[in-house]
Amino acid sequence: MSLFEVKRKTDTLPSVELSVLFWQGGKDIPLRNPEARMIQNELQQRRATGEASETHAIPYAKNRSIRIVYVVGLGENPSIDNIRRGVASAVQYAKTVNIRNIAVIAPEQIQENIGSAVVEGIELGGYTFTPYLPQKARDERKRSIQKVSIYVGKDDIAATEHGCETGKRFAFAAIFARNLVNEPALSVTPEVLANTARDIARKSKGNIIVDVADRKECEDRGMGAFLAVAQGASSEPQFIHLAYRPEHNEKRKQVALIGKGITFDSGGLSLKPSEGMETMKIDMAGAAVVLGVFSQLSIVKPNIEVHGYIAACENMPAGNAIRPGDIVRSASGKTIEIRNTDAEGRLTLADAITEAKKLRPDIIIDLATLTGSCVAALGEELAGLFCNNSELTKDIIDAAHAEGEHVWEMPLVDDYRPFIRSAVADVRNIGTKKWAGAITAALFLQEFIGKTPWAHIDIAGPAFAEQQTNPVIPEGGSGFGVRMLLHFLQKIGKK
Ligand code: BES
Ligand code: ZN
Ligand code: ZN
Repeated sequence: MSLFEVKRKTDTLPSVELSVLFWQGGKDIPLRNPEARMIQNELQQRRATGEASETHAIPYAKNRSIRIVYVVGLGENPSIDNIRRGVASAVQYAKTVNIRNIAVIAPEQIQENIGSAVVEGIELGGYTFTPYLPQKARDERKRSIQKVSIYVGKDDIAATEHGCETGKRFAFAAIFARNLVNEPALSVTPEVLANTARDIARKSKGNIIVDVADRKECEDRGMGAFLAVAQGASSEPQFIHLAYRPEHNEKRKQVALIGKGITFDSGGLSLKPSEGMETMKIDMAGAAVVLGVFSQLSIVKPNIEVHGYIAACENMPAGNAIRPGDIVRSASGKTIEIRNTDAEGRLTLADAITEAKKLRPDIIIDLATLTGSCVAALGEELAGLFCNNSELTKDIIDAAHAEGEHVWEMPLVDDYRPFIRSAVADVRNIGTKKWAGAITAALFLQEFIGKTPWAHIDIAGPAFAEQQTNPVIPEGGSGFGVRMLLHFLQKIGKK
């Protein structure tokens, strides 16, 4: 029996423990009386306005049982993300009061993609990371929902059922990434990332193949920048390449996805202060996104060839660690003066970009928890998007918007290029100025990109929620980027 079912909407509340009802402030409650009047009166008493993110749990009696109608404000310009957030908030409420059956009544204002938004809201809002908690706490936090009925107009039933399937796949992929990010660096080593990639390939029924290069092989490929970062760690670096090929793909368009895969970032000899290191197990969130996407590619089946690259290693201080002032030769042949060993992500990405370019892909997209500076600029909810191609910028922003994963365009300013010039090498790994660190990091990557259409997405802010602010993203790893990329790949596969 499936968790989700789609039913035909009526104008009364369904006989379920909790019904989610969307309401745009100032508009009528979309039900028949006396239920509409009862809800309207209660909302009036509470001085509800129907703003987005406003929620009201209103108890009422029906057939001698107590039921709850969970009213979610839609705001002035309702979007699909209002649905996703509202449902996520409802599922969290339901868990606290031990309710297991939920009905969601689709609003008139939004019909399209309602199925995927509801499923994502339930699965992502209800997510919690529990493997290390005692059994009792696990059971409490896990309290699962047994049935979610989605009520839609009779013409929307088939489309909504289809949307539910998409939503399940997208949510599963995001949760795959969340679990990897939430696991400590003690258990997610570079080798574990490589084994995760192998596992994904094994389960893909031949659609996905994987290749993992060890230290020796990376040396042979000249990956001096990546290996410099890995040098001080006792774990072995792993360079992971995944390739997905759709069954019928005459056009052979290729997209390369690159994920930053630093399983722990201590800063190296340019050691981070303790506080800055506390959450640095998340520095492989970009890699987790790539793996999350690949975990569903052979089911979502976008009509486009997709390659995934992860240069996985740890950034640790040690007697044999890389030092500030060292100069290394990257796989591209360019030399890099390492001024700060904590600006390590760009070094690993530089070699991953060079590796990806061997394919001559049509598009390169990298995701990286790259700079604290990006968090300072955009906060924890927005990712920075740096892109050298306007069509690609638009496609990414559209996909991000549809999935409620917000990116903000940032500039690749030519004027700042001199900041990463070095007197002793082709390029230096930090800017000479204190400011605009997110931009100089992006400009550094661009040195290795050349002319290929490319997007760099700095996810340092949204990769991890220290506290929940958006109900779709409970505390911890967010999986930010997974759904946006799946959406993007599906869409450009159709172009
Ligand atoms: N992994 C960090 C960036 C980061 C910071 C991610 C906060 C998530 C949250 C990255 O490797 C780093 O340390 N960047 C430095 C660069 C600096 C030394 C030029 C930074 O942003 O401070
Ligand atoms: Zn760092
Ligand atoms: Zn880092």
